[in-house]
Amino acid sequence: MKRKVILLRDASSHQVEPPAAAPSPLPAASWGAHTPPLVDGLGRPLRDLRISVTDRCNFRCSYCMPKEVFDGHQFLPHASLLSFEEIARTARVFVQLGVRKLRLTGGEPLLRRQVEQLIEPLAALQTPDGRPVDIALTTNGSVLARKAAALKSAGLRRVTVSLDALDDAVFQRMNDVGFPVAEVLDGIDTALAVGLGPVKVNMVVKRGTNDQEILPLAGHLRDRYGDQIRLRFIEYMDVGATNGWRMDEVLPSTEVRTLIQSRWPLVPLEAETRGETAERWRYADGRGEVGFISSVTRAFCRGCNRIRLSTEGRLYTCLFGSQGHDLRGLLRSGADDAQLAERIHQVWQGRTDRYSELRGSTEASVATQPRIEMHYIGG
Ligand code: GTP
Ligand code: 5AD
Ligand code: SF4
Ligand code: SF4
Repeated sequence: MKRKVILLRDASSHQVEPPAAAPSPLPAASWGAHTPPLVDGLGRPLRDLRISVTDRCNFRCSYCMPKEVFDGHQFLPHASLLSFEEIARTARVFVQLGVRKLRLTGGEPLLRRQVEQLIEPLAALQTPDGRPVDIALTTNGSVLARKAAALKSAGLRRVTVSLDALDDAVFQRMNDVGFPVAEVLDGIDTALAVGLGPVKVNMVVKRGTNDQEILPLAGHLRDRYGDQIRLRFIEYMDVGATNGWRMDEVLPSTEVRTLIQSRWPLVPLEAETRGETAERWRYADGRGEVGFISSVTRAFCRGCNRIRLSTEGRLYTCLFGSQGHDLRGLLRSGADDAQLAERIHQVWQGRTDRYSELRGSTEASVATQPRIEMHYIGG
């Protein structure tokens, strides 16, 4: 049976609207009382903007875009996507508001035509005190070997590659389109060769599906790449409404860590930055590090400084959000940068999200709210 995909867009989202107004410099005086960084309703600063550049993907990972739901799905028409100019302008305003990290996601971001042309203006952004902005991209790696050099020369600094298994048959089953693991490994090699390393590798672990791949993948990556690859194990999350998530398919990070430690002793590492998603450990023998992203068993909402801009220009203050806030209408109605900044400020100030902390709580209605799909909002 087909499960219904809830995308929760407003009715106006498919209208073709006039082009964006030309970017204008943001006068310092227009900040008024808003000195960056902005803080939300729980005192969390705004630091990390994740930009989804397409809702399309060539994989059908069962935990994200299950085939039986997404084959034949109507993806967004081109006119409703934010243009590169609109994205770059929005990102510039965010950086002036205190954002320090930009991440391009999707869907599969490398499917957006000439995405490197978006990277160029983003890579040129500077923080108000003149520092470069951290810019990264999360990809399934399928076309990375072909794209890595162009991404690097456009100014991309690093990539994160999703890779759920080393064994080809398991990997092909996970991506559900029969895509060979060798091509993703080739993409990782090319990314390292052109200077996009160290590369982070994300493995979503589903109990009974790919948990037998934990040791082979970790072993391969540490033996072959050492500290050039940082493997992170992600707990399977209940994002969206189509993946049929069940708690008994979540393998808690502590179990994954115990398994790794039984083979290669680990030593805990301090967090590099506040609000980090992964708990980091290094191999005691010096062969690099691994991370554990435990959104289900050990929520990290307290330090969550991330905001997400969807492909069609809606802002989401949580991965488990429902509605989002439209920015595209403002962008296309001639609003100046100060007005955009004001809107972003309102959205962030009104934020009290902490879905992962509340998951399972009986007092909260969070579990019953409709949720946005991950391929639409970005990972
Ligand atoms: P960098 O530190 O910039 O490299 O990014 P990151 O550690 O946030 O890693 P990445 O962007 O690769 O995110 C890794 C995964 O963590 C995502 O694919 C999600 O599965 C999960 N994740 C990231 N941000 C959030 C978040 O805000 N909430 C939850 N619940 N999960 C998140
Ligand atoms: N649970 C955990 N991680 C997920 N991702 C996608 N869907 C889920 C889910 N349900 C991860 C992907 C990729 C990133 C974009 O998000 O593996 O690394
Ligand atoms: Fe595509 Fe990534 Fe979702 Fe898999 S997890 S279907 S690669 S967007
Ligand atoms: Fe942030 Fe929401 Fe994830 Fe919590 S569940 S860490 S608030 S995105």
